[in-house]
Amino acid sequence: MTEFKNIVVTGGAGFIGSNFVHYVYNNHPDVHITVLDKLTYAGNVNNINMLFDSGRVELVVGDIADPEIVDQVASKADAIVHYAAESHNDNSLKSQDEFIQTNFIGTYTLIQAARKYDLRFHHVSTDEVYGDLPYREDLPGHGEGEGEKFTDKTPYNPSSPYSSTKAASDLIVRAWVRSFGLKATISNCSNNYGPFQHIEKFIPRQITNILSGIKPKLYGDGKNVRDWIHTEDHSSGVWTILTKGQMGETYLIGADGEKNNKEVLEDILTRMGKDKDDYDRVTDRAGHDLRYAIDNSKLRTELGWTPKHTDFESGLQATIDWYRENENWWKAEKDAVEAKYAETQKVLDK
Ligand code: NAD
Ligand code: DAU
Repeated sequence: MTEFKNIVVTGGAGFIGSNFVHYVYNNHPDVHITVLDKLTYAGNVNNINMLFDSGRVELVVGDIADPEIVDQVASKADAIVHYAAESHNDNSLKSQDEFIQTNFIGTYTLIQAARKYDLRFHHVSTDEVYGDLPYREDLPGHGEGEGEKFTDKTPYNPSSPYSSTKAASDLIVRAWVRSFGLKATISNCSNNYGPFQHIEKFIPRQITNILSGIKPKLYGDGKNVRDWIHTEDHSSGVWTILTKGQMGETYLIGADGEKNNKEVLEDILTRMGKDKDDYDRVTDRAGHDLRYAIDNSKLRTELGWTPKHTDFESGLQATIDWYRENENWWKAEKDAVEAKYAETQKVLDK
């Protein structure tokens, strides 16, 4: 039996939030989940609606920056797990208002409610708050899987409007712990992959490009390294921290999955029966972070967490299969997403 019977999951209709809802639904049958989600372009009711009939999962459509709706759901809960965010770096380079509003003001609104009702609060954040790490192919020890990694002691140094608003939200959570005794923990996770990821993101964009007869798009030289983790392992990490974490502590979640973008793209192309060079290299993202890498030893040793999906290749194959089998989940949006990217590229190419 778990100590939390009624949890609020903000952003539970998005990619990682909905995977967490499924994870809790499947593994903790005594827990009732209220999803608070605004259903922005990134939220999709189809990610969770198959769970509604059970009576164990309900959706409240609302904004985390709206104190009234937040008060309403918080008053009936014993914990909040906070995923809701504007989450895409490329979007944050075009327009910043929603990032400040949701990521900063939204988090502020939630922690005020958590304070009022003395709720357990878990804040889901990103490794991007730490900025990027060096990666020099010519220096031994600076390749993937080696060299410096982020720890919970790494100084904050965010690069983009997205990551800086996430960093700002982490800092207010920390201050609320210290000043008001908020019962909070924070996790900073690396890049997730798996089912239900919006097709604006790297892996699903390339898979759905190939399925749509469009050439994949690689930013710059493709040497940027991301530390890939299957979203189910992120979910088990968050659940472990929620139930076993020390108040006020920050835990980094990662599964030793460093790969550069070019090799991930070549792997996708090969698995989908294409030539590994059959892609377009496009103008790089402004301020593009070079390398992320997580030292997960604190979560492993202090809380006993271990990732299950340590074979990236089989996780990637399952993800390709999921997008192939669930065309109705993404097809209607594809043209609009690519049209938006084409506009961005025009500006970058000027
Ligand atoms: P996503 O963009 O797929 O989903 C975000 C969800 O939040 C959507 O359902 C959206 O409708 C909802 N939302 C947005 N604004 C809202 C608001 N004002 N009020 C209520 N709901 C709102 O995002 P994701 O990739 O699933 O990321 C979820 C969280 O995990 C974010 O906090 C992100 O910073 C963090 N994170 C993501 C990754 C990754 O690889 N995607 C890695 C580490 C951490
Ligand atoms: O590290 C965690 C972060 O991972 C999360 O906090 C963010 O919410 C999440 O979006 C992700 O950020 P990235 O910017 O790393 O993810 P994205 O999928 O946008 O891009 C992954 C890498 O692929 C990045 O180096 C940029 C590159 N890329 C991306 C797209 C969309 C391409 O080369 N081509 C593309 O078309």
